[in-house]
Amino acid sequence: MKCTSNDDIIERADQILKKKFHITTFGCQMNEHDSETIAGMLLERGYEQAKERKDANIVIFNTCSVRENADKRFFGTLGQLKKKKMEEGENFTVCVCGCMMQQQHIVDTIKSKYPWVDIIFGTHNIHQLPELLDNLYNEKHKQLSVWHDGGEIVEGLPSKRLFKHKAFVNIMYGCNNFCTYCIVPYTRGRERSRKPEDIIREIKDLAADGVKEVTLLGQNVNSYRGAGDNGQDVCDFADLIHLINEIDGIDRIRFMTSHPKDLSDKLINTFSECEKLCHYFHLPVQAGSDSVLKRMNRRYTREDYLELVKKLRAVDPKMSISTDIIVGFPGETEEDFEETLSLCEEVRYDSAFTFLYSVRTGTPAAEYEDQIPENTKHERFNKLVETVNRISAEKNAEYVGRIEKVLVDGPSKTDSAIYSGRTETFKLVNFPGTPEMTGRIIDVMITSSNTFSLEGEAVSCDE
Ligand code: 5AD
Ligand code: SF4
Repeated sequence: MKCTSNDDIIERADQILKKKFHITTFGCQMNEHDSETIAGMLLERGYEQAKERKDANIVIFNTCSVRENADKRFFGTLGQLKKKKMEEGENFTVCVCGCMMQQQHIVDTIKSKYPWVDIIFGTHNIHQLPELLDNLYNEKHKQLSVWHDGGEIVEGLPSKRLFKHKAFVNIMYGCNNFCTYCIVPYTRGRERSRKPEDIIREIKDLAADGVKEVTLLGQNVNSYRGAGDNGQDVCDFADLIHLINEIDGIDRIRFMTSHPKDLSDKLINTFSECEKLCHYFHLPVQAGSDSVLKRMNRRYTREDYLELVKKLRAVDPKMSISTDIIVGFPGETEEDFEETLSLCEEVRYDSAFTFLYSVRTGTPAAEYEDQIPENTKHERFNKLVETVNRISAEKNAEYVGRIEKVLVDGPSKTDSAIYSGRTETFKLVNFPGTPEMTGRIIDVMITSSNTFSLEGEAVSCDE
């Protein structure tokens, strides 16, 4: 920050006066959390947050490269801002950030086809946004800040949480796995773990601020290895969960995402040792056939995966399990696909995120010649969705008649008398509620079930 004299301060206050920002987030929870950090930094600097994009004079797009057709959707939405930018000029600021900005061809496209974009910054440069805005307003020229390799982890950034009672906490950044379909190692860089001390301090502060549930985030939390302040005393992910389990005020611990190849017995055992760890595991399988898994560079077999599921359920019989599955990976035969279907029947996932394989420029699988025709991919996808949805509905039906502990998120957007929250097993529950229930853990009797949610009646509050 460059403000030194009173004049500078007054000038900056004028700049910020009435500057309202709005963030549109595409993609995963990591991106959602980055947006919370961006909002936290800007609020701390005196900017206001607009409820809707149309009311903002700083618009920020936090992009994703993982979801299908992400580029098309992003450029379509970005293009809609051109008219306003042409009309309002300096009084309207357009910023783009996130995974897509870590890809040179995307930055080149923005520079040539959307030259009116004011600020482009990468996933390693989030902490620089306030400075980039200052520079833009002082120097009146575009700002670009994208590092291709992650630098030091920046600690102590503020965050504007979406919920008062639950928070995301990054424990590591980046990924070393190079699954052949995936762009993340190129956009988020190599694995870097935060120090356990920094994580614990953040979670204690969150607990003091009313947070009851933390979700630990990383592309592959199972390979978390945080060194102590002395640079030694390495703490692995299971050790970290034990430390967090001791923090007063925190009632629930969740995490995502886990790579099956790094899922240790030690971590599986934490589910019986740490009572705050929720009975839920997101374990992406991606495919059910060994030959596809090999070409995806996943480094486990179907059998290894099924063994892990068995162990998880043996240690924690209440465990709910979800997954990610890609359909139509290059070279996937009908037999390979049948193996994915049969794996779903065998595991009986509580829920599954299903993806149509789509090419990511720069990844090895983009070069594979045996790409699957679109209509075949869609046929398989529909079959898979039918299977996973049927199983989800059957799993949910098992909850009817049970009393579940639900952390209440608040009223539903469409009906203020209906409240929703999550069970320890991450099931979404809707029930008639009242405002004081928000942020509390209450007992809910489950009365009926759907494919993606449960319905119930509140029976009592914990507090
Ligand atoms: N095509 C389809 N799905 C993909 N995913 C990642 N890359 C691709 C791709 N190129 C899916 C994986 C991952 C999830 C977050 O996104 O299933 O686990
Ligand atoms: Fe992508 Fe594989 Fe890393 Fe997950 S583990 S982020 S799928 S490369």
